[in-house]
Amino acid sequence: MSRTPSQPPQSPSRRRLLGGLGVAGAALAASPLAAAATRAGAAPDADTGHVTDAPLSAHSDQHVAWLGQHQAGITTPRPASGLLASFYVLAEDRPALERLFRLLTDRIAFLTEGGDEPVLDPKLPPASSGLLGPHISPDALTITVSLGESLFDDRFGLAALKPLHLQQMRAHPNDALDASLCHGDLSIQFCANTPDTHLNALRDIIKNTPDLLSLAWKQEGTVPPVPAVRGQPPQSARNFLGFRDGSANPDAADARQMDTLVWVGAERGEPTWAVGGSYQAVRIIRNFVERWDRTPLQEQEAIMGRRKADGAPLDGGRDEHAVPDFSRDPHGQRTPMDAHIRLANPRTADTARNLILRRPFNYSNGVTRSGQLDMGLLFICYQADLEQGFLAVQRRLDGEPLEEYIKPVGGGFFYTLPGVRDRGDWLGSALLQAADAVAPAPTQPASDQGPSA
Ligand code: HEM
Repeated sequence: MSRTPSQPPQSPSRRRLLGGLGVAGAALAASPLAAAATRAGAAPDADTGHVTDAPLSAHSDQHVAWLGQHQAGITTPRPASGLLASFYVLAEDRPALERLFRLLTDRIAFLTEGGDEPVLDPKLPPASSGLLGPHISPDALTITVSLGESLFDDRFGLAALKPLHLQQMRAHPNDALDASLCHGDLSIQFCANTPDTHLNALRDIIKNTPDLLSLAWKQEGTVPPVPAVRGQPPQSARNFLGFRDGSANPDAADARQMDTLVWVGAERGEPTWAVGGSYQAVRIIRNFVERWDRTPLQEQEAIMGRRKADGAPLDGGRDEHAVPDFSRDPHGQRTPMDAHIRLANPRTADTARNLILRRPFNYSNGVTRSGQLDMGLLFICYQADLEQGFLAVQRRLDGEPLEEYIKPVGGGFFYTLPGVRDRGDWLGSALLQAADAVAPAPTQPASDQGPSA
């Protein structure tokens, strides 16, 4: 049975608890104690009736298919937590890179399908972190692998096969990029219902690739699940500025629109191996929440171009699903000309090709050295053309009033590999086969190979 991430399965412990309470339990179930227990995710102890911190929910068995023309984690529903990790590739030649791609494919298959961890000789380290126990539940995990521009340097002989628009992210005027949070040879986006599922997956991949990958940076984030209300359209989760985020996102379930906006097709003039992939743009954007919380509501709404309470556009409409009509407000009397949504999507015929598919997560990292909350947006978006997508939108946003409250500090651009077609296939196979067809794998010069035996 498939469930949406906002409908966590009822865990055995909760079912047992409610089912086993009997008459006394019926009273308890109606009591504030039980209500508090249910809300807080804690269970009353069977003997004492005291609330303990035993969790009521386990990791779910919800499974997202990982095989197909495209990788999962882009148009598949966004679950409650995400992690973007960027790596240096340590592989020294093309055969080692192939070993890395095959290994990643194997780990993705196991981690996203779930199953029992192998039991190893106790004299050896255990097979996994143990974070999820001996049985790995899939928990809606998706693992999406993308390549940075630096992977197409001269190490693997891939330069001639670089996607047309793949480039290193450059600073925009409002950026304060921290070099330790930028770029990378390879990114892995993990999405799952719970953070420990993607942390287990990240640790699994790190453990299995000591000679092939080295972690450069990572950022985790969450989005609150928004329960569906019968008879009403779905509502978008709020970001850390308190606004609904995702209202005007293109419909990821609309396969034809995704073929135009997100997936690279054969008509785009990209290298043949890249068909079925997508451009991934990542930005770690700090929010100055203390300053935002002291800004008048009407100013916040003018900056965003939407009402804060329900997300409706400023030019009218009942809720966040109303479509603004800027043509009837040419001087910005209702929606300022420099409002975030108006710059991001002016809704003209000319800017329709700049639509992007956003998949952001909110992050909260602790406290800065100057005593401010380090909170923000792990902004991730996908598009079939990086220039027409993220870069065109960001250039229009450069100088927007929202900049007083945000500061991009990291991120990078990556090319998301096409999907793994079947169990005989592996991630990156088309790229490496194309490379072999152009030129055999470069071998290391004799002087680099160390002393001979
Ligand atoms: C911390 C930074 C940001 C915040 C707080 C933020 C917030 C929002 C909010 C509240 C909306 C309106 C609801 C919606 O349609 O989703 C929105 C829309 C949008 N944002 Fe952002 N955003 C941020 C950064 C960015 C960046 C970096 C880009 C791309 C370069 C971007 C592109 C868009 C687009 C394309 C829309 C939809 C506009 C429409 O079609 O009406 N945003 N954003």
